Amino acid sequence: MSRSLRVGLLTGGGDCPGLNAVIRAVTKSLILQHNAEVFGFQDGFLGLIEQRMQQLSYADVSGILTRGGTILGTSNKANPFSYYKRGGADVSNEIVRYCTRTLNLDAIVVIGGDGTMTIADGLQKLGLNIVGVPKTIDNDLVGTDRTFGFSTAAGIATEALDRLHTTAQSHHRVMILETMGRYAGWIALYAGVAGGADIILIPEIEFEIEEVVRVCREREMGGQRFTLICVAEGAKPKDGSRVIREVIADSPDPIRLGGISRWIEAELEKSKMRSEVRTTILGHMQRGGTPNPFDRTLATAFGSYAASMVAEGQFGRLAVLQNSHLASVPLADVANKVRTVPLDAPLLASALSVGTSFGIPQGDQPIKMQSTSVVS
Ligand code: F6P
Repeated sequence: MSRSLRVGLLTGGGDCPGLNAVIRAVTKSLILQHNAEVFGFQDGFLGLIEQRMQQLSYADVSGILTRGGTILGTSNKANPFSYYKRGGADVSNEIVRYCTRTLNLDAIVVIGGDGTMTIADGLQKLGLNIVGVPKTIDNDLVGTDRTFGFSTAAGIATEALDRLHTTAQSHHRVMILETMGRYAGWIALYAGVAGGADIILIPEIEFEIEEVVRVCREREMGGQRFTLICVAEGAKPKDGSRVIREVIADSPDPIRLGGISRWIEAELEKSKMRSEVRTTILGHMQRGGTPNPFDRTLATAFGSYAASMVAEGQFGRLAVLQNSHLASVPLADVANKVRTVPLDAPLLASALSVGTSFGIPQGDQPIKMQSTSVVS
């Protein structure tokens, strides 16, 4: 009689809404549909290196669909190819042996973003069977139209803009909201469009501060008398540089962005506009709390699809969403890559056509005005 499937599971990198929904979907599908045993590693790759794990039963994952965070814990420091607790030693082969020989695992489901998938791809090449699930509020993984967590984060940023809108209007102020997103502008773009921001600044389009000042002034003089700016943390002025919040030495991706909104505030104040300027940096609010219905359903679909990929032996691949269909792509195609907002993204053109400024004078506009029905 053949033994049952034994599958490991971990969540890597920064957390995001929907992680528990994926843990639940992977575990329940593997147990119910494939009679598998599931083992959850604690704190991402750190738990894998330190051999900290627990078996997950059906009951363990019941009732976690709506909960924020991850019941397994996560870490964005532990990289088995350069383990910070052992002076950067490569412990990847130890891990592969532990999983395949000691634990007799048939596969590991790895839930994470680009950093996690790069590590996963390296471990797959050493002989560990891996199935990936795309997570991140940044929506910046290549190969998939959506990562789970993004919709919730964009919703939180939209609500923040809605609230800033009314107070901006009352006080005739310039209100700046800074969103996360690293080197991609997806959160700022979606929230900016949904929240009706007058100016949206994203990393993909270097803005001119003179144009930002001009738009604010024009609105100040015109009927509106207030301006709402939505800026991505990775946005950068022409001939300037990105603003770095801190550098975390132990992290595989040590740079943490943040603070561009304060620079814009200072520039606006220097320009001696009449309106006062206020800044809100939304930060980790975008990562915490319960996932919205879209992310709950996407997480459940990704999780059950990943379970079937394990059962079918489709290893070394990432579950993805393409044109509303579930599919998979090789991990190697995703590793070390970032999906930024393309300049022909239909939503950029839509925003431009309703008068949103991207901080670029009209004649120099890099956005491609193609008409298409797809919002992505
Ligand atoms: O990748 C997710 C993300 O929230 C980014 O948007 C942000 O730049 C970064 O992680 C923040 O990282 P940390 O939680 O280490 O401050």
